[in-house]
Amino acid sequence: MYPGSKVKASAGNKVLRLATTWLVVAAAPFCAAADTPEYLDAGLSIETRVEDLLARMTFEEKLSILHGDSKFTTAAIPRLGIPRRRLSDGPHGVREDIGPDTWENSGHTDDFATALPAAICLAATWNAELGFSAGELIGQEARARGKDIMLGPGVNILRTPLCGRNFEYFGEDPLLSGVMGAGYVRGAQSQDIASCVKHFAVNNQENQRDMIDVEVDERALREIYLSAFKAVVRTGGVWTVMAAYNKLRGQHCCQNEYLIKRILKDEWGFTGLVMSDWAAVHDTKQAVLNGLDLEMGTEGVGYDDFYLAKPYRDGLRSGEYSLAGLDEKVRRNLRVMIATHVLDAGRKSGSLNTAAHQAIARRVAEEGIVLLKNDNQTLPLDAAKLKIIAVIGENATRPQSRSEDSSSIKALYEITPLDGIVKRAGNQVNVIYSVGYQKNGGADLTERALAAAKAADVVIYIGGLNREKGFDCENADRTDMKLPYGQDELIQKIVAANPKTIVVMEGTIVEMDSWLGKVPALLQAWYPGMEGGNALARVVFGDVNPSGKLPATFPKKLADSPAHTFGASGYPGVNGKVTYSEGLLVGYRWFDTKHIEPQFPFGFGLSYTDFKYSDLELVEGGEGIVTARFKISNTGTRDGAEVAQLYLHPEKPSVMRPDKELKGFKKVSLKAGETLAVSIPLDQNAFAYFDPAKKGWIAEKGDFGVLVGSSSRNLPLQGVFKLTQTTTVE
Ligand code: BGC
Repeated sequence: MYPGSKVKASAGNKVLRLATTWLVVAAAPFCAAADTPEYLDAGLSIETRVEDLLARMTFEEKLSILHGDSKFTTAAIPRLGIPRRRLSDGPHGVREDIGPDTWENSGHTDDFATALPAAICLAATWNAELGFSAGELIGQEARARGKDIMLGPGVNILRTPLCGRNFEYFGEDPLLSGVMGAGYVRGAQSQDIASCVKHFAVNNQENQRDMIDVEVDERALREIYLSAFKAVVRTGGVWTVMAAYNKLRGQHCCQNEYLIKRILKDEWGFTGLVMSDWAAVHDTKQAVLNGLDLEMGTEGVGYDDFYLAKPYRDGLRSGEYSLAGLDEKVRRNLRVMIATHVLDAGRKSGSLNTAAHQAIARRVAEEGIVLLKNDNQTLPLDAAKLKIIAVIGENATRPQSRSEDSSSIKALYEITPLDGIVKRAGNQVNVIYSVGYQKNGGADLTERALAAAKAADVVIYIGGLNREKGFDCENADRTDMKLPYGQDELIQKIVAANPKTIVVMEGTIVEMDSWLGKVPALLQAWYPGMEGGNALARVVFGDVNPSGKLPATFPKKLADSPAHTFGASGYPGVNGKVTYSEGLLVGYRWFDTKHIEPQFPFGFGLSYTDFKYSDLELVEGGEGIVTARFKISNTGTRDGAEVAQLYLHPEKPSVMRPDKELKGFKKVSLKAGETLAVSIPLDQNAFAYFDPAKKGWIAEKGDFGVLVGSSSRNLPLQGVFKLTQTTTVE
């Protein structure tokens, strides 16, 4: 309907159509219900409600919900009872309120929230249930803060350790990312909000993120970079997808026909809405025709001049664009509203900053912290045997949840590592703190830190990266993989002063070669969220037995990493184009296939107890076409949890395949001395590769090594499964 034409029926004018007969009978006891338009009747199907609402909307009303009317909202349609839609970042909690028309924080006092550990820490838990709980928490806090769409999770694959946003994603493996992402989305969307999976797709570097054009072969695109998105769409049921800033094969992702129209919507059957990243749209025609449904954040023009506002209106009026196309975009927006009960009386109202949420934040950190080294059982510490602990390092006192970027959280509080250690060590232990290094620190800081180290029974060094520009941040990558602020030298001096130095790294992957061999213990703590200090202290003092596993390979040096093997064309790109020459061989797929020794392999993480794997059996049938059954025993003296990992190694594939790939995992808790039977089913998808010629997934017959164990490089159980038929799988 064009402006000026009549509205078919409105909420107020009591026009009821055919379904009335049924409605009147069904709703007889409640007379008012007979007047309820179909779209407000929560008892009807989503599609019925969508069509009814769509039919009532004017041309202008339709257009008005396809673009932002502030930084993070879209317009209300009061006549129809459609409220303003409120979107919010991000993956680690509900961001503080912004705007409305600027990027300034709005200065509200009621926007403190629970700050979860960074997504990479959640991935390091390898605990799908915890993924659900984290998402559920986000959903509850979003509702309590009046939000409708939460902009997360991000499931871009870690291609280079330098990418500024690796901490916001789930690491280098598509299966792990997909499982964690889908669980998170199911949890969040159980709370009557929509999640938004981002950034679709191949947004694997922040360097030149607005314009970089990604050239990637079809198999790598499908098998590595799109696979987690597909899982989040198909098994997570995500309602919204955010298209990325960058280009794929010459076309910006927000207007990318292949990605949005053909793959996401046609192939995967996605029925929700596709929104742009903020200020990522460049062309009305492409955006309109290639499937963008909601434009957000465009800079430098008024909201009514967004690409999907006036220029779209003009094109619709002139007949360049079809009204059916407009309806399809509107339908997708309405579907998300109705599915998340935006128009329903009983919509969940959520909860904010509860003790239960803080407990989840702590649990994610406890399970996501990875014990990378522990010579001579240096850890856990026994507070009763210590007099002086020296805590050294700027990150010991630096809250990491708040930053300049979209994933920033205004945490209700944040327990820093020093807070947590002081509290847990108790009154009998003297904890001395020395900052050790700083952005512009000098030799005096080193001297004081060394004096503290010498005076103490044990040193806990807390360093790594932070969230300032140039480290773990948006819109910039690191320029190398080195520790900043002279930390390499500092750590070596500290360990020389006190050999009992435990190193705790915050942030993402750094080079460790210069000091790793000298320190007896190392923990990777990522950005552990508002309860991070408590979680870390509980790990350090043994209240929690660490069970995190690396979601990404830690290379010894940057040059070992696949994206950095092919010169500038492989990273950061030449003349605006980056070519993924390593193809499928991302992360451990590269290190294993090329026999390169990593610093720490994918899936690696130690425990304070020992686990033994035994009795592998491959049983045909069950939940999949074959199920790996085996036993894990906790042979140590402490209770603990282990992540059993299953990799497939195709023996003689007819096409190039990585040496091995993760195809299943399970996290299990075992009491000291306990043995548990574990089973991991494999369906046909586990065996499949993408065949670009056939445009489909092929599970090719042949022998597959089935490798089971505690990391990608410790796989004590090995069997062979013969796939007897070649099949095409979905
Ligand atoms: C980021 C998105 C974020 C959006 C809104 C963009 O710069 O890439 O992840 O959701 O801003 O803040």
